[in-house]
Amino acid sequence: MSVKVFDTPEDLAAAAAGAFAEKAAEAIARRGRFAVALAGGSTPRSTYEILARDYAGAVDWPRVHVFFGDERTVPPDHEDSNYRTAREALLDHVPVGSVHPMRGELPPEEAAALYVRDLRTFFEEELPAFDLIMLGIGGDGHTASLFPETSALGVTDRMVVANPVPKLDTTRITLTAPVLNAAREVLFLVAGEGKAEALKEILEGDADPREYPAKLVQPPGGPGWMADRAAASRIKES
Ligand code: 6PG
Repeated sequence: MSVKVFDTPEDLAAAAAGAFAEKAAEAIARRGRFAVALAGGSTPRSTYEILARDYAGAVDWPRVHVFFGDERTVPPDHEDSNYRTAREALLDHVPVGSVHPMRGELPPEEAAALYVRDLRTFFEEELPAFDLIMLGIGGDGHTASLFPETSALGVTDRMVVANPVPKLDTTRITLTAPVLNAAREVLFLVAGEGKAEALKEILEGDADPREYPAKLVQPPGGPGWMADRAAASRIKES
Protein backbone atom coordinates (compact mmCIF):
# COMPACT_ATOMS: atom_id res chain seq x y z
CA MET A 1 0.00 0.00 0.00
CA SER A 2 1.52 3.30 -1.04
CA VAL A 3 1.23 6.39 1.12
CA LYS A 4 1.35 9.92 -0.21
CA VAL A 5 3.28 11.94 2.35
CA PHE A 6 2.95 15.72 2.71
CA ASP A 7 5.21 18.05 4.67
CA THR A 8 2.46 19.64 6.74
CA PRO A 9 -1.19 19.06 7.72
CA GLU A 10 -2.05 22.05 5.55
CA ASP A 11 -0.39 20.46 2.50
CA LEU A 12 -2.25 17.22 3.30
CA ALA A 13 -5.58 19.03 3.51
CA ALA A 14 -5.01 20.86 0.22
CA ALA A 15 -4.08 17.63 -1.55
CA ALA A 16 -7.08 15.80 -0.07
CA ALA A 17 -9.41 18.54 -1.30
CA GLY A 18 -7.93 18.19 -4.78
CA ALA A 19 -8.37 14.42 -4.67
CA PHE A 20 -12.00 14.83 -3.58
CA ALA A 21 -12.68 17.18 -6.50
CA GLU A 22 -11.01 14.84 -8.99
CA LYS A 23 -12.95 11.83 -7.78
CA ALA A 24 -16.19 13.80 -7.83
CA ALA A 25 -15.62 14.90 -11.43
CA GLU A 26 -14.83 11.32 -12.49
CA ALA A 27 -17.88 9.82 -10.78
CA ILE A 28 -20.22 12.51 -12.11
CA ALA A 29 -18.85 12.07 -15.64
CA ARG A 30 -19.33 8.29 -15.45
CA ARG A 31 -22.47 7.90 -13.36
CA GLY A 32 -24.05 11.32 -13.10
CA ARG A 33 -23.52 11.57 -9.36
CA PHE A 34 -20.88 11.36 -6.60
CA ALA A 35 -21.88 9.46 -3.47
CA VAL A 36 -19.34 10.16 -0.73
CA ALA A 37 -19.15 9.19 2.95
CA LEU A 38 -17.27 11.82 4.93
CA ALA A 39 -14.76 11.06 7.65
CA GLY A 40 -15.44 12.22 11.16
CA GLY A 41 -13.07 13.58 13.77
CA SER A 42 -10.96 16.70 13.46
CA THR A 43 -8.40 15.86 10.76
CA PRO A 44 -10.68 16.31 7.72
CA ARG A 45 -12.12 19.66 8.86
CA SER A 46 -9.47 21.68 7.03
CA THR A 47 -10.04 19.63 3.88
CA TYR A 48 -13.75 20.44 4.05
CA GLU A 49 -12.97 24.13 4.60
CA ILE A 50 -10.66 24.19 1.57
CA LEU A 51 -13.37 22.53 -0.55
CA ALA A 52 -15.85 25.22 0.49
CA ARG A 53 -13.38 28.04 -0.03
CA ASP A 54 -11.52 27.00 -3.18
CA TYR A 55 -13.80 24.50 -4.97
CA ALA A 56 -17.20 26.16 -4.77
CA GLY A 57 -17.16 26.62 -8.54
CA ALA A 58 -14.99 23.62 -9.40
CA VAL A 59 -17.24 20.82 -8.23
CA ASP A 60 -20.75 20.07 -9.56
CA TRP A 61 -22.09 20.19 -6.00
CA PRO A 62 -25.77 19.49 -6.80
CA ARG A 63 -24.61 16.07 -8.03
CA VAL A 64 -22.71 15.39 -4.80
CA HIS A 65 -24.56 13.28 -2.21
CA VAL A 66 -23.11 13.30 1.27
CA PHE A 67 -23.21 10.47 3.77
CA PHE A 68 -21.16 9.76 6.90
CA GLY A 69 -18.92 6.87 7.92
CA ASP A 70 -19.94 7.14 11.52
CA GLU A 71 -21.50 9.40 14.12
CA ARG A 72 -21.38 10.02 17.81
CA THR A 73 -24.58 9.54 19.83
CA VAL A 74 -25.12 13.26 20.24
CA PRO A 75 -27.55 15.77 18.69
CA PRO A 76 -26.60 17.30 15.34
CA ASP A 77 -25.73 20.67 16.93
CA HIS A 78 -23.42 19.13 19.53
CA GLU A 79 -19.74 20.08 19.30
CA ASP A 80 -18.81 16.38 18.99
CA SER A 81 -21.16 15.76 16.07
CA ASN A 82 -19.43 14.73 12.84
CA TYR A 83 -22.43 16.11 10.99
CA ARG A 84 -21.96 19.50 12.69
CA THR A 85 -18.27 19.57 11.71
CA ALA A 86 -19.12 18.85 8.07
CA ARG A 87 -22.04 21.29 8.08
CA GLU A 88 -20.01 24.18 9.49
CA ALA A 89 -16.92 23.55 7.32
CA LEU A 90 -18.57 22.57 4.05
CA LEU A 91 -22.27 21.78 3.79
CA ASP A 92 -23.48 25.26 4.76
CA HIS A 93 -21.35 26.71 1.97
CA VAL A 94 -21.98 24.56 -1.12
CA PRO A 95 -25.30 23.40 -2.66
CA VAL A 96 -24.88 19.61 -2.37
CA GLY A 97 -27.57 17.41 -3.91
CA SER A 98 -28.46 15.67 -0.63
CA VAL A 99 -27.11 15.20 2.89
CA HIS A 100 -27.71 12.00 4.85
CA PRO A 101 -26.76 12.46 8.50
CA MET A 102 -26.78 9.57 10.93
CA ARG A 103 -29.35 10.46 13.60
CA GLY A 104 -27.07 10.71 16.62
CA GLU A 105 -29.88 12.15 18.73
CA LEU A 106 -31.94 8.93 18.48
CA PRO A 107 -31.42 5.69 20.37
CA PRO A 108 -28.38 4.21 18.53
CA GLU A 109 -30.08 0.98 17.44
CA GLU A 110 -32.93 3.03 15.93
CA ALA A 111 -30.45 5.41 14.28
CA ALA A 112 -28.58 2.47 12.75
CA ALA A 113 -31.80 0.92 11.40
CA LEU A 114 -32.89 4.26 9.94
CA TYR A 115 -29.53 4.65 8.23
CA VAL A 116 -29.82 1.21 6.65
CA ARG A 117 -33.17 2.31 5.21
CA ASP A 118 -31.60 5.55 3.98
CA LEU A 119 -28.79 3.62 2.25
CA ARG A 120 -31.23 1.13 0.72
CA THR A 121 -33.36 3.98 -0.65
CA PHE A 122 -30.43 5.79 -2.20
CA PHE A 123 -28.39 2.88 -3.57
CA GLU A 124 -29.88 0.36 -5.96
CA GLU A 125 -27.21 -2.22 -5.12
CA GLU A 126 -27.72 -4.59 -2.21
CA LEU A 127 -24.49 -3.23 -0.75
CA PRO A 128 -23.97 0.55 -1.18
CA ALA A 129 -21.27 1.32 -3.75
CA PHE A 130 -19.96 4.64 -2.51
CA ASP A 131 -17.78 6.43 -5.05
CA LEU A 132 -15.56 7.52 -2.17
CA ILE A 133 -15.39 6.81 1.54
CA MET A 134 -13.06 9.14 3.47
CA LEU A 135 -11.70 7.76 6.71
CA GLY A 136 -9.30 8.64 9.50
CA ILE A 137 -7.58 6.46 12.06
CA GLY A 138 -7.19 6.82 15.77
CA GLY A 139 -3.95 6.29 17.65
CA ASP A 140 -5.38 2.88 18.61
CA GLY A 141 -5.88 1.90 14.97
CA HIS A 142 -9.66 2.38 14.89
CA THR A 143 -11.40 3.74 11.83
CA ALA A 144 -14.91 5.13 11.48
CA SER A 145 -16.28 3.83 14.78
CA LEU A 146 -14.80 0.38 14.41
CA PHE A 147 -12.77 0.37 17.60
CA PRO A 148 -10.45 -2.44 18.76
CA GLU A 149 -12.18 -5.37 20.47
CA THR A 150 -15.69 -4.01 19.83
CA SER A 151 -18.68 -5.99 18.59
CA ALA A 152 -18.99 -4.16 15.25
CA LEU A 153 -15.69 -5.61 14.01
CA GLY A 154 -17.13 -9.03 13.31
CA VAL A 155 -20.38 -7.87 11.71
CA THR A 156 -20.72 -9.08 8.13
CA ASP A 157 -24.52 -9.24 7.75
CA ARG A 158 -25.47 -5.64 8.56
CA MET A 159 -24.46 -2.37 6.92
CA VAL A 160 -24.80 -0.04 9.90
CA VAL A 161 -24.65 -0.88 13.60
CA ALA A 162 -24.74 0.71 17.01
CA ASN A 163 -21.33 -0.11 18.42
CA PRO A 164 -20.75 0.11 22.18
CA VAL A 165 -17.25 1.46 22.87
CA PRO A 166 -16.53 0.72 26.56
CA LYS A 167 -13.26 2.63 26.66
CA LEU A 168 -15.06 5.79 25.60
CA ASP A 169 -18.06 4.95 27.77
CA THR A 170 -20.33 5.55 24.82
CA THR A 171 -22.03 3.91 21.85
CA ARG A 172 -21.27 5.01 18.30
CA ILE A 173 -23.18 4.52 15.04
CA THR A 174 -20.96 3.19 12.27
CA LEU A 175 -20.81 1.73 8.80
CA THR A 176 -19.50 -1.81 8.99
CA ALA A 177 -16.51 -3.33 7.17
CA PRO A 178 -18.57 -4.83 4.31
CA VAL A 179 -19.81 -1.35 3.34
CA LEU A 180 -16.36 0.19 3.63
CA ASN A 181 -14.97 -2.60 1.45
CA ALA A 182 -17.70 -2.23 -1.18
CA ALA A 183 -16.61 1.35 -1.92
CA ARG A 184 -15.15 2.15 -5.31
CA GLU A 185 -12.48 4.12 -3.49
CA VAL A 186 -11.43 4.59 0.13
CA LEU A 187 -9.10 7.41 1.14
CA PHE A 188 -7.51 7.60 4.59
CA LEU A 189 -6.34 11.02 5.81
CA VAL A 190 -3.85 10.78 8.66
CA ALA A 191 -2.08 13.64 10.42
CA GLY A 192 0.04 14.03 13.55
CA GLU A 193 2.73 12.18 15.48
CA GLY A 194 0.03 10.55 17.59
CA LYS A 195 -0.96 8.36 14.60
CA ALA A 196 2.60 7.33 13.64
CA GLU A 197 2.72 4.06 15.58
CA ALA A 198 -0.75 3.00 14.46
CA LEU A 199 -0.01 3.87 10.84
CA LYS A 200 3.19 1.81 10.94
CA GLU A 201 1.34 -1.16 12.42
CA ILE A 202 -1.53 -0.91 9.95
CA LEU A 203 0.71 -0.62 6.90
CA GLU A 204 3.69 -2.75 7.91
CA GLY A 205 2.77 -4.77 10.99
CA ASP A 206 1.19 -8.17 11.39
CA ALA A 207 -1.10 -7.41 14.32
CA ASP A 208 -4.59 -8.84 14.28
CA PRO A 209 -7.19 -6.53 12.67
CA ARG A 210 -9.20 -6.80 15.88
CA GLU A 211 -6.42 -4.71 17.46
CA TYR A 212 -6.05 -2.35 14.48
CA PRO A 213 -9.46 -2.25 12.79
CA ALA A 214 -8.28 0.02 9.97
CA LYS A 215 -6.65 -3.18 8.65
CA LEU A 216 -10.13 -4.50 7.91
CA VAL A 217 -10.56 -1.86 5.22
CA GLN A 218 -9.52 -3.64 2.04
CA PRO A 219 -11.66 -2.43 -0.89
CA PRO A 220 -10.72 -3.71 -4.36
CA GLY A 221 -7.29 -2.29 -5.15
CA GLY A 222 -6.74 -1.37 -1.52
CA PRO A 223 -7.35 1.95 0.22
CA GLY A 224 -5.49 5.15 -0.58
CA TRP A 225 -3.40 6.76 2.15
CA MET A 226 -2.50 10.41 2.53
CA ALA A 227 -0.46 11.42 5.58
CA ASP A 228 1.56 14.30 6.86
CA ARG A 229 5.24 13.81 7.64
CA ALA A 230 4.62 13.50 11.37
CA ALA A 231 2.14 10.65 10.97
CA ALA A 232 4.37 8.96 8.38
CA SER A 233 7.52 9.33 10.50
CA ARG A 234 7.75 5.60 11.34
CA ILE A 235 6.89 4.00 8.03
CA LYS A 236 9.18 3.17 5.14
CA GLU A 237 8.05 5.99 2.86
CA SER A 238 6.90 4.81 -0.51
C1 6PG B 1 -14.79 9.83 14.55
C2 6PG B 1 -14.11 9.30 13.32
C3 6PG B 1 -12.87 8.58 13.71
C4 6PG B 1 -11.75 9.54 13.35
C5 6PG B 1 -10.48 9.16 14.07
C6 6PG B 1 -9.43 10.26 13.89
O1 6PG B 1 -16.02 9.90 14.56
O2 6PG B 1 -14.04 10.23 15.46
O3 6PG B 1 -14.85 8.73 12.44
O4 6PG B 1 -12.67 7.34 13.08
O5 6PG B 1 -11.54 9.54 11.95
O6 6PG B 1 -10.78 9.04 15.45
O7 6PG B 1 -9.92 11.40 14.51
P1 6PG B 1 -9.09 12.77 14.46
O8 6PG B 1 -9.08 13.21 13.02
O9 6PG B 1 -9.86 13.72 15.34
O10 6PG B 1 -7.70 12.46 14.97
